[in-house]
Amino acid sequence: MSVLPWSLLPDNSSVGPAGQLVVAGCDTLELASEFGTPLFVYDEDHLRARCREAVRAFPGGAQYATKAFLCKAMASLAYEEGMQLDVSTGGEYHVARAAGVPAQHLVLHGNNKSEQELAVALRERVGRVVVDSFDELDRIERLVAEGLPVPQVLIRLTPGIEAHTHEYVQTGQDDSKFGFGIHTGAAEEAIRRAASSPAVALVGVHVHIGSQIFEADFFERAVHIVGPWCRDHGLAELSIGGGLGVAYVEGEDAPTITEWAAAVHRAVDRVGLDVRVSAEPGRSIVAQAGVTLYTVGTIKPIPGIRTYVAVDGGMSDNPRPVLYDSGYETFLPRAVLADRSKVVTVVGKHCESGDLLVRDGKVPADLAVGDILATPVTGAYGHSMGSNYNKVPRPAVVFVRNGTARLVVRRETYEDLLRLDV
Ligand code: LLP
Repeated sequence: MSVLPWSLLPDNSSVGPAGQLVVAGCDTLELASEFGTPLFVYDEDHLRARCREAVRAFPGGAQYATKAFLCKAMASLAYEEGMQLDVSTGGEYHVARAAGVPAQHLVLHGNNKSEQELAVALRERVGRVVVDSFDELDRIERLVAEGLPVPQVLIRLTPGIEAHTHEYVQTGQDDSKFGFGIHTGAAEEAIRRAASSPAVALVGVHVHIGSQIFEADFFERAVHIVGPWCRDHGLAELSIGGGLGVAYVEGEDAPTITEWAAAVHRAVDRVGLDVRVSAEPGRSIVAQAGVTLYTVGTIKPIPGIRTYVAVDGGMSDNPRPVLYDSGYETFLPRAVLADRSKVVTVVGKHCESGDLLVRDGKVPADLAVGDILATPVTGAYGHSMGSNYNKVPRPAVVFVRNGTARLVVRRETYEDLLRLDV
């Protein structure tokens, strides 16, 4: 028997009378027919619970990393639950502000912030700027000389740690475009310069070692390396970034946000620091809250080779399998507890062979054209990294709660595909 591991589904999942998946009281098959497919479905109380867990676990500040999934509804949800928001571009900043999040609750990241991005943030008195380069310090000094307010800043340190994760999402190693290297001497120089510059109020240091990390050890090592910088320079804040991994497929097991925080706080105590510790979880807030629903359009068995199952989305709504070779599970929402005895390759509708969603996806043997097929744990870095490739309109997003579905991002139309053409 190979049944979908229940733990991969949103918190408020249940089985309906016909064996179908119900999320937060909403029948997923009805959602598919009401809103169409592909469709991102998020369990709103799951999102809220993870935000609250992060706020409890990091009393020094929990910033939701908006790059994982951002729309106005998500920004205001995280803010309502007591989080601040990590924005890494002017675009993320704009969406968060449009959702009504005060600038003071935003932390501005980015390895190449433009003068314009910085100017807007400084003018609106953004909560923190995480400074990533000497060129950025130059820009801030120019803007402050022109009369903009002095920002409170953290310096991003690069600790020289290679966390076990995909190379593309490792950020703590010496050879990185991010931050000031500790081993190269840049960190020392950046802190000295920021501490003496009248254009910035230096309040702390930041470190982000990567993403989809399962071992708390790496975060502890980061604290051991970066923590002493706070002590030596009399800085009151330590941001440990995001990066906590989540289980995507059967057999994976990740620490909870609470366990992650406990490991970080233990390390801070061990180093003997008296600092405000904050964190920036993204994936661990949203990934498991989301499920994507697709419609199966074509089934192509190639005897002795494999069976391709093509759905109505693909690399445009989830580029992670193509980019990082990421694995996902599959199931049929009409029979969520069914034995998945058949192995198929789930592909999208894009014009290339690399358009793969699940290489060896397990499905019930009676899978048929017209079925709704789902991939769980698609709440992070799917919608946010989606594209219009092949002019496939971006999917809609619904939040479900207490039996009610709320459309938070409407499906893109063909008209939308023309709105930038002049
Ligand atoms: N803080 C900083 C400074 C970051 O760069 C990131 C993610 C986060 C927080 C949030 O990390 P999380 O908790 O979500 O792991 N597209 C990739 C992930 C890229 C992450 C980039 N930075 C993926 O789909 O796996």
